[in-house]
Amino acid sequence: VTDAGLLRGLTARFGTPLYVYDLDEVDARHDELRAALPERSRLLYSLKANPLPALGECLSARGCDAEVSSEGELSAALASGFCAARMLYTGPGKSEREIGAALAAGVRRFSCESWTDAERLARVAEGGDERPVALLRVSPALSARAGLSMSSAVAQFGLHEEALFQGAERMAALRDRLDFAGFHVYLGTQLRDAAALEEAFRAAAEAAFRVSERLGVEPRVVDLGGGFPWPFATEGEGASLVGLHASLTVLLESDARLANAEIAFESGRRLCASSGTLVSRVIDVKRGAFGKRYAVLDAGIQTLGGLSGLGRVMRPSVSAIVLDAASEGSASEPTEIVGPLCTPADVLAQGLAVAGLTPGALVAVPNVGAYGLTASLTGFLSRPPPIEVVHRGGEVLAVYRLRAGHARLA
Ligand SMILES: Cc1ncc(COP(=O)(O)O)c(C=O)c1O
Repeated sequence: VTDAGLLRGLTARFGTPLYVYDLDEVDARHDELRAALPERSRLLYSLKANPLPALGECLSARGCDAEVSSEGELSAALASGFCAARMLYTGPGKSEREIGAALAAGVRRFSCESWTDAERLARVAEGGDERPVALLRVSPALSARAGLSMSSAVAQFGLHEEALFQGAERMAALRDRLDFAGFHVYLGTQLRDAAALEEAFRAAAEAAFRVSERLGVEPRVVDLGGGFPWPFATEGEGASLVGLHASLTVLLESDARLANAEIAFESGRRLCASSGTLVSRVIDVKRGAFGKRYAVLDAGIQTLGGLSGLGRVMRPSVSAIVLDAASEGSASEPTEIVGPLCTPADVLAQGLAVAGLTPGALVAVPNVGAYGLTASLTGFLSRPPPIEVVHRGGEVLAVYRLRAGHARLA
């Protein structure tokens, strides 16, 4: 955390827990990623990482397009200035209602994750002025390759190559209503480094071409996905992208089909993870059974869930940086960093040894600008969502609070 004074000042104004976002960081990370991608490719911001309007505004102003996967993300993207006609609408379970809302808002590009999904899109779009652009989402048949997360290839996303080939007749029946313009491949998040990314994009392109040939779909648009890494809720930086620009430029020039296609990449995490810091206050410090030491913060998995409450993704292991100089002198001792919720699942870190964890101390968790608040159990135990404040160079530009609670409908 570079500016403890700023963070302390903001908590004095807005209280804790507090999410603080630095737009200069978003700019810096965007420019770094953009420089690592071939000039003629598009970069899509995946709003699932963080739909906060100020972050979207920053990225749309820098020339990103948006990847959205719900009506909420669509309206956040529109409010942030992303162009509807250049958005990509994704997701394995699009309802007629949301497809209709997306078309009405001007969205033209959809990632089709099954033949049923494509047929639903065609049905909802029937009678419209233009045929929607359908990118077939390919879930490639991959041999185990070093550094590649296989997660999306073995999950519920997209169509396996065999399923794509078997659907040739269903596709033929849709061609007059959908513009099958190309492919969408997303091989996984948090790929290890520049070499793993290049390998993933190469594998994605190969899969797209295999399908292209067998189905007779000219690949005019190829979205090669993402997976650009950055640490989550721990100190540090994402693996260097040095070398990626050169290797991807070679990849795109190596094949006429790629050279002639519109190429897109997607990123959520790399663009905004580092911009966000969660500041929380230590409410209590106490001993439990066997002398175990607990520090109870006012932020728990309702503020920073990282999907951990769902038994997924993160082992509780956040970095907690004490911001109060006065308490830094106290001894460090392995401590369970827990939140305020009445559940033993509310753990942010186990056995963390940091000095200064005393009641009243302020602690910061870095790298939570992506998959922070909106990936948390925000409704659980009905605590008000934290304030989110956005600044540039210390000047506060926007202050938000996520809506919570039940609205009675009938
Ligand atoms: C299709 C798709 N695109 C983009 C992303 C964003 O990934 P990241 O935030 O790691 O860049 C995801 C994440 O799950 C995804 O499923």
